[in-house]
Amino acid sequence: MLVLGIESSCDETAAAVVAGGERILSSVVASQVLTHEKYGGVVPELASREHLKKIVPVVDEALERAGLRATDVDAVAVTEGPGLIGSLLVGLVYGKAFALALSKPIVGVNHLEGHIHAVLLENKIARATGNPVEEARLPALSLVVSGGHTCLFRVQDGVAESGHASLFSYKLLGQTRDDAAGEAFDKVAKLLALGYPGGPVIDRLARSGNSAGVEFGRIKMKGNPLDFSFSGLKTAVLYRVRGTPLAGEAEERRTWRKTASAPTPDEIRPHCSQATLDLIASFQRAVVTDLVQRTLAAAEALRVDSVLVSGGVACNSLLRESFDQTARERGFHVHYPSPALSTDNAAMIAAAGYFKLLVGDRADSSLTARASFPLGAGAT
Ligand code: KG4
Ligand code: ZN
Repeated sequence: MLVLGIESSCDETAAAVVAGGERILSSVVASQVLTHEKYGGVVPELASREHLKKIVPVVDEALERAGLRATDVDAVAVTEGPGLIGSLLVGLVYGKAFALALSKPIVGVNHLEGHIHAVLLENKIARATGNPVEEARLPALSLVVSGGHTCLFRVQDGVAESGHASLFSYKLLGQTRDDAAGEAFDKVAKLLALGYPGGPVIDRLARSGNSAGVEFGRIKMKGNPLDFSFSGLKTAVLYRVRGTPLAGEAEERRTWRKTASAPTPDEIRPHCSQATLDLIASFQRAVVTDLVQRTLAAAEALRVDSVLVSGGVACNSLLRESFDQTARERGFHVHYPSPALSTDNAAMIAAAGYFKLLVGDRADSSLTARASFPLGAGAT
């Protein structure tokens, strides 16, 4: 089955063709980073307009790279939510029109389910191409950690979810109560005038800083210990900057950045004092320590030995190192997608949609975008 995946929930317009739920024939992602960079975050209205410009060429390119005509596609899988409503609608309406015009089935996919399937898809690809990887075994614990989400799920196969036929079921174990981890990276980068998105630049600059330089303390959670909260940490960084020489330094960087076009982390580094680099490294260490500790506590409580980590923040090098080290010590296996499948893409939507289509899940004309679309909140 050839599934055309379409993703437009935030600031990437993406289309992909995946065969049999496990072979990526093409995956095209048009990033809007340059549009949003000067605002230090995604501007929803601009995002919708960019999607409108990109959706047709991106889908055409995905078909062309796969060597297919539109009529060759067997089904369409499109992100239904959660996300920015105007952005979601562009991909969704295009997908519905495509399916209607060509009389193809269409299925709506939860963006978070897509991120979870990115790991399973990559795991399958690695094994199919003779890459000696550990198989991700279900039930597993999944951490989806991105600019919009920080959630822990238990993922199981072969169970029907709340009346809908499904080959997978998800139980939400914990989620952020305020900022997502990637959002905290982006906001700290904005505060320090490091650019957008913040995660990749902080990841690189933190290597030149001392992660024990600033003491942030552990993030304490009342109630569910598997919930997350990163806004306090972001505010703690603000207090370390406000009224100190670091604030003036950030202003100088902001002025310099206006003259530099899309500077790389290596170009930004000479404009950062050691105190700024230490602050960045300590902030990153605090986020990563919290993510790793809560995730592995959940895995231990569930008695699962496979941990799936996906979403944009899964690209973070310290996160991967820390997970690998802690998992080795405690006997877990941690699986991540490659960076291209960690951030938003449509191959993960096609892969997740494939399993829905396989059991006869079909959307009708009432399929619409959902800004809020919880996954696994009611499942067991
Ligand atoms: O999954 P994604 O592309 O979009 C959402 O669904 O949000 O994730 C984007 C987020 C941004 O917040 C970005 O700063 C973060 O992922 N990110 C990183 C890294 N690469 C991307 N965060 C930390 N370290 C990275 N290397
Ligand atoms: Zn995402």
